[in-house]
Amino acid sequence: MPKQGDSRELRTVWWEDGVVKLIDQTRLPGELVILECRDYREVAAAIKEMRLRGAPAIGVAAAYGIALGGNQWAQGSGDSLLGQVKQVAELMRATRPTAVNLFWAVERMLNRAHQVARGERDPGKIQKALLAEAERMAEEDVAVNQRLGRFGAALIKDGDSVLTHCNAGALATVDYGTALGVIRTAHEQGKRVHVYVDETRPYLQGARLTAWELKQLGIPATLITDSMAGHFIHLGRVNLVILGADRIAANGDFANKIGTYSLAVLAKENGIPFYSAAPTSSIDLAIPSGDHIVIEERDAWEVTHFKGIAIAPEGTRAANPAFDVTPNRYLTAIITEEGVIYPPFEEGLRKAVAQVQARRITPFTTSN
Ligand code: MRU
Repeated sequence: MPKQGDSRELRTVWWEDGVVKLIDQTRLPGELVILECRDYREVAAAIKEMRLRGAPAIGVAAAYGIALGGNQWAQGSGDSLLGQVKQVAELMRATRPTAVNLFWAVERMLNRAHQVARGERDPGKIQKALLAEAERMAEEDVAVNQRLGRFGAALIKDGDSVLTHCNAGALATVDYGTALGVIRTAHEQGKRVHVYVDETRPYLQGARLTAWELKQLGIPATLITDSMAGHFIHLGRVNLVILGADRIAANGDFANKIGTYSLAVLAKENGIPFYSAAPTSSIDLAIPSGDHIVIEERDAWEVTHFKGIAIAPEGTRAANPAFDVTPNRYLTAIITEEGVIYPPFEEGLRKAVAQVQARRITPFTTSN
């Protein structure tokens, strides 16, 4: 990511002087604009309007939004502060339905609020604890991605050409990225890697965001339209596919950006590995299979228009599911911060989540 004025590297979302700041991804690649949210409703709107997107980034932004909502509460008792926090949490939950990281983050913030409220009735302490939890989630996200990147990079050989879809880079997380973090780690290890970047219709996360990130990182890349992927895979130009995940069911079925399923079938048909790289916060053990994943349906306008210009006859009906579900049988492995998980997935996924939960015990002290 580019540097800020004080030469610190930019993050996708962060807290500064009581304000939630985020890179407005709708303005990239043309302009790097920072959106400043002084009200929790602005954070929710930024998620809904996809100014910030990508499963892990959405989760952390919602956590900061809840901390901001807590901070905005000014008077009354600790109980009414909790009421406000719950209301803000509901607003965050209603922004986007598919990425489980959002619900995971909201739940974690609510648990923290209740945990602190049990011992401390002082609203100031609850507000402080909420911000500390959001900050902790942001720090963890970066560390988790770097760990995941190291596990995944072992699957990339010197000279490999990797195909990726959507944006699972620094912009989809707090920093570093998941699928793109794997590619980035391989590159940092000195491996020569080339990336085929699917443009990712209709929102163009590949063209606008992934190509932008790869350029910043100096990683060789070729942008292709989504419909070219089969051609290049068939020609033998792609050695492996690595992309992210928005929700992984207990059996390993997973939702990711629309177009992922087609790539999975292409990879299997052509005998190349197909990996999903995601933090354990993307795993939803509460659902047995991908059949239970809610797929967000976005405005048809995103398909019928480009930058406000109609590209279809007026009145054309268009479908716009933002994600699809890939059955587990197409997955070679899932790359997480707890290691690379191979089929059958359920046992490995449960073990990874249990390991992370066992480590995350946050006792409340007045200093946090
Ligand atoms: O609609 P988006 O842009 O939020 O969708 C993002 C994706 O599908 C990503 O691949 C996924 O969130 C993984 S990001 C690390």
